[in-house]
Amino acid sequence: MAGLFATKSVDRLISDSECHEHRLKKTLTAWDLIAIGVGCIIGTGIFVLTGVVAISDAGPGIILSFVICGIACVFAALCYAEFASLIPIAGSAYTFSYASLGELIAWIIGWDLILEYGVSTAAVASGWSGYFVKFLGFFRRFFGIKWLKWPVRWALSPTSTAMVHGHLVHGIVDLPALLSTLVVTWLLIVGIKESANVNNIIVAIKVSISIFFIGLGLYFVHPSYWHPIVPKFVPYHSVSSSSQNAARKITKPGTVKSGINIWKTELWKLIAEGFGYKIQQGFGGWAGIFLGAAIIFFAYIGFDAVSTTSEEAKNPARDLPIGIIGSLLICTVLYILMSAVFTGIVKCNGTLTLASLGVNKRAPLVYAFQLVHNPWVSHYAAFLITIGALCGITSVLIVTLLGQSRIFFAMGRDGLLPAWISKVHPRYQTPWIGTLITGVVVAVVSGFVPLGDIAEMANIGTLFAFVLVSAGIIFLRKYQPEKKAAFRTPLVPYIPLLAIFFCGVLMLSLPIITWIRFVVWLVIGLGIYFSYGNKHSALRNPVRMTSDSSETPCP
Ligand code: ALA
Repeated sequence: MAGLFATKSVDRLISDSECHEHRLKKTLTAWDLIAIGVGCIIGTGIFVLTGVVAISDAGPGIILSFVICGIACVFAALCYAEFASLIPIAGSAYTFSYASLGELIAWIIGWDLILEYGVSTAAVASGWSGYFVKFLGFFRRFFGIKWLKWPVRWALSPTSTAMVHGHLVHGIVDLPALLSTLVVTWLLIVGIKESANVNNIIVAIKVSISIFFIGLGLYFVHPSYWHPIVPKFVPYHSVSSSSQNAARKITKPGTVKSGINIWKTELWKLIAEGFGYKIQQGFGGWAGIFLGAAIIFFAYIGFDAVSTTSEEAKNPARDLPIGIIGSLLICTVLYILMSAVFTGIVKCNGTLTLASLGVNKRAPLVYAFQLVHNPWVSHYAAFLITIGALCGITSVLIVTLLGQSRIFFAMGRDGLLPAWISKVHPRYQTPWIGTLITGVVVAVVSGFVPLGDIAEMANIGTLFAFVLVSAGIIFLRKYQPEKKAAFRTPLVPYIPLLAIFFCGVLMLSLPIITWIRFVVWLVIGLGIYFSYGNKHSALRNPVRMTSDSSETPCP
């Protein structure tokens, strides 16, 4: 029993990472790390979910949703930064918790991080697909290439639909999402440095395009659209059973408590009902802002990805905190401004519906520019935004896939997953088996599962990881006070407690169905741990050595 809570000492973690078989090339600079953070953060969240949330949940209050999420993330990022500078080992929150909370919790987090990285990568790929189809559409129009057309049904997962020229089209498979994931998988297998270089260029393009959207868009905003910033709460008449927020039907605002889908109700509302309060679902109010925050939290996922590549950093103790906090702050400012511009151009007061946007709901920022009565903006500027979004989402794909393969790498090295998963390629020096498996599974999921459910699952998994990492800092300070990180979270335990509080509020704002799926996922994970990881844990079998005795013993 005590073994379940055995912690892996920080020194042991570092010596394991020095092991020859599992050693990664150290090539990443502070700028690479900031770029990896920004590359992973700005993607489907801002380019797709911003429109969804502003139109169906929060209105201009989405600006406040972004502020709430930003605050939660800054507190959590300070905790991540301390761990990352203390334990510069691949695996992110998984590794941190192994050092502070014990093996069982580490496994739970590692399993949970599959939601954050693996599952969210699939959602990201489907966001990419929407902009890809838009891109081809622009290209066709500009150059008159009539055949250059991707059939909508081959760009939608089987349960998704879209209105095209007044007809309802049902999806078959989201092929662009599937294929793009496979290409990125190949890129990651051939080498981290190559991937980081590609990533740096893409990040530069998407940050420039985001600034372009803000700069040009500000010229066309109607400040009156921002009032009131907390929109009046308008109950939905009915909510569709689809789990995708984007698919919610808002038909007749104004009718209370009709057609409520209990599974899509936020958990806190269910708790409130237990105390005798009435459940209402609708647009606006603080409820809409918090629901919106719980969904667009997806846009912030990624700053912690910096720590998943920590073994490849040249100077991890100094550069990891710079990478984590720097990338988070840059993105927070961009998000607040971008959402302000979007809601300043698109009037989101609860009467506009996603259904009325047709296929444009998959590319809402482009839709905003197409509303502007200026042909240059609605054509060429919108085209540029499409390119920026495509680049932006591509870099998210790269980094989230990279993060997932590194988490598997760390778990395999620890014996909680089979060791072959963390084998490094002799020529490319990348954990190619884990990367290949991750890439193929994610590609299939992205082709067949719609965005909405996955984003909410990724959010709950990530928020839970943030809570555990923040708790880990409190435990680390109390039980291993001799470990002094180069970067220390200020005001412990208050900052970690605030992180736990804000992340907890966002988790409670997620729908009940997401909670149920999350609990099922954790139970499956525990089953795997007790039938495999528990028996093969390298921490419990310290005598296992590699055949190459001249190297550091491998776990
Ligand atoms: N934050 C990432 C995105 O928005 C996951 O795509």
